[in-house]
Amino acid sequence: MIAIGSDHAAADLRQTVKAYLDEKGIAYKDCGTDQSPSDYPVIAKAVCGEIQAGNADTGILLCGTGIGMCMAANKCKGIRAAVCSESYSARFTRLHNDANVLCMGARVVGSGLAAEILDAFLGTEFEGGRHQRRVDMVMALEEA
Ligand code: RB5
Repeated sequence: MIAIGSDHAAADLRQTVKAYLDEKGIAYKDCGTDQSPSDYPVIAKAVCGEIQAGNADTGILLCGTGIGMCMAANKCKGIRAAVCSESYSARFTRLHNDANVLCMGARVVGSGLAAEILDAFLGTEFEGGRHQRRVDMVMALEEA
């Protein structure tokens, strides 16, 4: 299950991503928002809360740049969020970082590129091995 959310700047991209997920038959929960203006940290907290509660294993967060959502999401315990604007980073943040939240910027990527990024992120498994120790080190920073 995927939890998805956007602020007002990425409301259109959120609908595009939902259409992508519908087409692929991937279940999701839409955490909003259709409000404008809106505050991205509120939506980031809602999506990350679904992961923290065990209702979702992956999150997709969209704002103007993807950056504000990513900053907010990475403040939430258990979350490893990455902003991706191309598919190479999307693939490697799954392979090496075990990212569980994908952030994209609606003012940065178009719908075609967003679909490529989603293909890479959702279609790639964490490699584990030597990367697990490093991911554990990152997660330990939550206590720093
Ligand atoms: C909203 O104008 C914009 O600041 C927001 O969508 C996001 O890009 C912040 O990082």
